[in-house]
Amino acid sequence: MNFDLRSLRQQFPFFSAHPDWIYLDNAATLHKPQAVLDAMNTFYSQHNSNVHRSAHGLSQQATAAFEAARNTVAQFLNARFSHEIIWTSGTTAGFNQLVFGLMGPVLQSGDRVLISSMEHHANIVPWHIHALPFGVQLDVVPLTADHRFDLAAYSELLKLKPKVVSISHVSNALGYIQPIADIVRLAKEAGAIVVLDGAQGIVWEKIDVQALDVDFYLFSGHKLYGPTGIGVLYGKTQYLELLRPLLGGGEMIKTVSFSSSSWNDLPYRLEAGTPNMAGAIGLAAAILWLQQQDLTAFQQHKSALVQRFYAGCQQISALELLSGPTTNAGIVALNLKNEHPADLATLLDQQNIAVRAGTHCTMPLFQALNVKGSVRFSFACYNSFDEIDRTLTALATAVELLAE
Ligand SMILES: Cc1ncc(COP(=O)(O)O)c(C=O)c1O
Repeated sequence: MNFDLRSLRQQFPFFSAHPDWIYLDNAATLHKPQAVLDAMNTFYSQHNSNVHRSAHGLSQQATAAFEAARNTVAQFLNARFSHEIIWTSGTTAGFNQLVFGLMGPVLQSGDRVLISSMEHHANIVPWHIHALPFGVQLDVVPLTADHRFDLAAYSELLKLKPKVVSISHVSNALGYIQPIADIVRLAKEAGAIVVLDGAQGIVWEKIDVQALDVDFYLFSGHKLYGPTGIGVLYGKTQYLELLRPLLGGGEMIKTVSFSSSSWNDLPYRLEAGTPNMAGAIGLAAAILWLQQQDLTAFQQHKSALVQRFYAGCQQISALELLSGPTTNAGIVALNLKNEHPADLATLLDQQNIAVRAGTHCTMPLFQALNVKGSVRFSFACYNSFDEIDRTLTALATAVELLAE
């Protein structure tokens, strides 16, 4: 491990507030380093003004900080232009804008969209709301027998000529890193627009949207050490230009009369209303913080945590493991035979171990797996081997208790 875990943890005030907790619910949301909290505090205490609206100097300062945050995200993703970064309130909001915006200009009745069995509801339900009622058909890439993305089936489904392919970068339920380079390349060869749900993937590896040639990439700030209520919809200019705005209101217009309105240029056209300024600045601070860390070391550490936890779980025979340790971004999903996942999670909670139980906003995945749900252990760079060992001990105790 090429970083000092103790000093890393010291940068996260949450841990000194809760020294008695083991936090393994990182796929739900990550904790925030002090640098992020400081940046947001500085914005509110020293620069608070509304952006883009007022002629006064304070507003200009706030606008400069807000647009600098957009540039930070653009550079982080290697977007060609900063107007390709659309602020959203999170991945969910981004998908709703995206799907609504594609309907009409890109998607019409009879067109097909291809998703996978592992998608989060954020990449399913917006299609149900905004696309299916207008005659769009949703096709689904199945899982392989070992619960992976089925590339062969994907290639077959691409022959149906979907107009859009929309796939998660990393599965939030199983932890698997999807073969995104192949997914994008094959979709492009089939002539589809490609969307990646980066909610879990963005924290795992560096994304270069131009090298990957992905058309849209979405993520949430709070899963990248940043604040809640801010997210990013990246899109190539040519496709963002096509999107119909989902939200109308201030700032997204050029002209308004009582009978009609004309829309502003990118990115503002897709950002109606007062934006989450402190959130954007907090997210940029999270990115700048991350850029000072050793991302490869973080990856190796998370992989080692998964391996150790997985090996320990294999020693507890009553456990059924749903996800394996290879090409895994830091999530282990499991069940205790014949027990409800919530019971196991409750017993762990009683030992101050935070995990998540249920279907993790992937109900169709669990229908495909034919299991009711799972207990999800999700790891982050700041988790320690000691925490893994204590969790395994607590897990063994919980399993014994439930077996009584
Ligand atoms: C893969 C994936 N997509 C989308 C989302 C939705 O993100 P948010 O709730 O931040 O909008 C999540 C959140 O868990 C996720 O894991």
